[in-house]
Amino acid sequence: MDRFIIEGGRSLKGTVRIEGVKNVILPMMCASLMAETGVTVIKDVPYLQDIRVLLKLMNELGAVCEYNAEDRSLSIDARKVSKTVAPYELVKQMRASFLLSGALLGRFGDFHISLPGGCAIGARPVNFHLLGFKKLGAKVLEKEGLLSATAAKLTGATVCLDYPSHTGTENLMMAAALAEGTTVIENAACEPEIKDFGDFLNAMGAKVSGHGTPTVIIDGVKKLKAVTYTPIPDRIVAGTFMYAAAITSGEITIENANTDHLRIVMDKLSDMGVLFGRGKNGSVIVKGPKRLTAVDITTMPHPGFPTDLQPPFMACLAMADGVSFVWETVFENRFIHAAELNRMGANIRVAGDKAVVVGVPNLIGAPVMASDIRAGAALVLAGLAAKGTTIIDRVYHIDRGYKKIEEQLAALGANIKRGDDREQ
Ligand code: EPU
Repeated sequence: MDRFIIEGGRSLKGTVRIEGVKNVILPMMCASLMAETGVTVIKDVPYLQDIRVLLKLMNELGAVCEYNAEDRSLSIDARKVSKTVAPYELVKQMRASFLLSGALLGRFGDFHISLPGGCAIGARPVNFHLLGFKKLGAKVLEKEGLLSATAAKLTGATVCLDYPSHTGTENLMMAAALAEGTTVIENAACEPEIKDFGDFLNAMGAKVSGHGTPTVIIDGVKKLKAVTYTPIPDRIVAGTFMYAAAITSGEITIENANTDHLRIVMDKLSDMGVLFGRGKNGSVIVKGPKRLTAVDITTMPHPGFPTDLQPPFMACLAMADGVSFVWETVFENRFIHAAELNRMGANIRVAGDKAVVVGVPNLIGAPVMASDIRAGAALVLAGLAAKGTTIIDRVYHIDRGYKKIEEQLAALGANIKRGDDREQ
């Protein structure tokens, strides 16, 4: 298995460009299965592990999908899709494959997908998705780990989500797009990805409004068509590079980042002493101080502090001057990185969904292990700032959400390389 070897202590300097966001490209890929005509093209796609897994799954279903490395676009021809069964071997590799359910239900009136199961950050049930499908008229059955739904006809309904679930909102938007009549999703997720996803569906011929607000209205249409679309940039990757400048006292110019999507994160970084400026063509310049100052954060659905940026933020807090308080309200188990950071000399105490971080002047390189994408990013950042050598194992988690992050960081001056855990 691959690992990262980092010699820390260098200030990062240079420019990085942010590509399209995985967490909207995945639902867009699924939605493209609803196009009965033409070939969908999604542009500015980072060829990440999660995207490769979903492509494999979609090929299994009968779609013809291709990634063009030259122009970083993805083409999906869904005209010959015939299967509606997603096998466990692929679903278990990526929970987001459950996004296929809304698309398959919408187009074919049925799906059979292995129950995604939990992951390192929490149990992650899909009950809100299923309740919504039922409201639209689907019969849902769970047997031996397989979730099946069938509907002779989907009919619009009002669905009030218990919690503004990100993929739950997207799944219901897809099923409702081809239902008869009007669906209203209340307490919908408001992430920028939901707004972009609604715009994508509308480009396909759907009639979605209110997306990006807590009330999304979908007037069902009979057919959807293929489109060519460029997704918004990845705010979580952009935020991670902001942290990289912050934690290494560096100066990084980030191109193609939408700062409107990162307001609370940038406010917190400013409170910590990070300076922001404007560069050419709308780029943002991020300059880290000599030493960061402690701040408190509480994660929440958008526009609150994003849970995906909490683990790497904790790496910055670990080295800040003062005591910080972190409250994780979205996922019940998203502090695994804290113990790994403590292996590097951090002083973090976790009690349930809360953590107290007592900043230390230096972290010390150590062997550590990534447990999910963002916990992995936290360890990379800590390794960049730590004294000595950090070896991060299980970097396949990081590869699911960051494209060749070691190459991007090395281009900014970091001493990081990819190795193999057999090279002991
Ligand atoms: N929840 C339920 N029942 C449901 C759905 C969600 O109880 O049916 C709970 C979850 O267990 C969690 C909370 O609601 O406690 C929020 O979960 P949500 O459904 O919003 O998360 P998700 O849609 O499964 C997406 C992203 C995650 C990101 C979260 C929160 C994708 C593919 N994944 O997951 O991204 O953390 O929203 O913003 O869009 C990542 O990229 O590293 C990642 C984990």
